[in-house]
Amino acid sequence: MNIFRANNDSIQRAAAIIRDGGLVSFPTETVYGLGADVFNPLAVSRIYEVKERPFFDPIIVHISNTAAVDELVLSFGERARTLADRFWPGPLTLVLKKTARVPDIVTAGLETVAIRMPAHPVALQLIESVGKPIAAPSANLFGYISPTRAAHVAEQLGDRIDMVLDGGDCPVGIESTILHLGEPVPIVLRPGGLPLEEIEEVIGPVAVHGGIAGSVQAPGQLPSHYSPNVPVRLVDRIDFQPAEPAAALLAFRAPRGKLPFARIEVLSPDGDLRVAAANLFRCLHRLDSADVDIIYVERVPEIGLGRAIMDRLRRAAGRKSH
Ligand code: TXA
Ligand code: MG
Repeated sequence: MNIFRANNDSIQRAAAIIRDGGLVSFPTETVYGLGADVFNPLAVSRIYEVKERPFFDPIIVHISNTAAVDELVLSFGERARTLADRFWPGPLTLVLKKTARVPDIVTAGLETVAIRMPAHPVALQLIESVGKPIAAPSANLFGYISPTRAAHVAEQLGDRIDMVLDGGDCPVGIESTILHLGEPVPIVLRPGGLPLEEIEEVIGPVAVHGGIAGSVQAPGQLPSHYSPNVPVRLVDRIDFQPAEPAAALLAFRAPRGKLPFARIEVLSPDGDLRVAAANLFRCLHRLDSADVDIIYVERVPEIGLGRAIMDRLRRAAGRKSH
């Protein structure tokens, strides 16, 4: 497998691969991305192929400086500018009207494009070295748990891609918050690494997708997504006797006393939502490869990053067949 520790050399090599139409997985502060040259439709179509991702699910464009938005969007309005000044680089993706320069395959035919500037030195250096924006979804198989370390990418995509840049564990650990900047009110299409409350402090109230009937499409928001192979069930209490002989528990905080589970993972011993978000996918990956029949998951409070965590957990539990 082509895993290389990220350094000047390997980043230059990765940039050359992307410029030549290849695919490179790289670390961001949220999760690992699978990058291609945004202006190369063939390279982008390979992303869909290797992820086994349906063509109706558009891809986020990653930039390394705000000037890059000029060729991607028709107008970067006042609100977008304010948000970008405040939160970029960082886990916020803005959805805006696209220019003709952005290939349809990137946006799955939508008139909008999703853009973000990742807060990770390797990602930023890679985009700079490529010299143009990088189109990148999360580097996992469609519908499966997102990767927060290079080994997760290798397990899922293995030799299907040209290179993995290893930058260690992703510090945020959960995907970016996606904000649609249409009129009249901005809409959160996906809760993520930037809490809603922080966005509202800057631009006032925003709507959350789901409350508004079908006005905006968020194709990636399928009910079963981010799913392990092992069934996942959400629970309110963890002091029960599981019926299954090999039941695992994903606890929010350190449980008191001994519990009758074959495996226990704890998201955050002290119940810190930031720590829980950073550990979420790693814990799910670990439990999914442990020999268990079911993963019981303790709910977390739905404030701050807790919204994004519960969103992913509900989808992980939403898978119907295995
Ligand atoms: O943190 C992240 O956002 C990571 C890292 C790699 O940047 N990327 C990521 O990409 O999570 P992906 O492809 O797994 O999820 C992006 C979601 C898609 O499910 C899609 O629904 C939504 O973004 N999206 C992309 N373009 C869109 C658009 N024009 N309008 C609405 N939703 C869009
Ligand atoms: Mg994804």
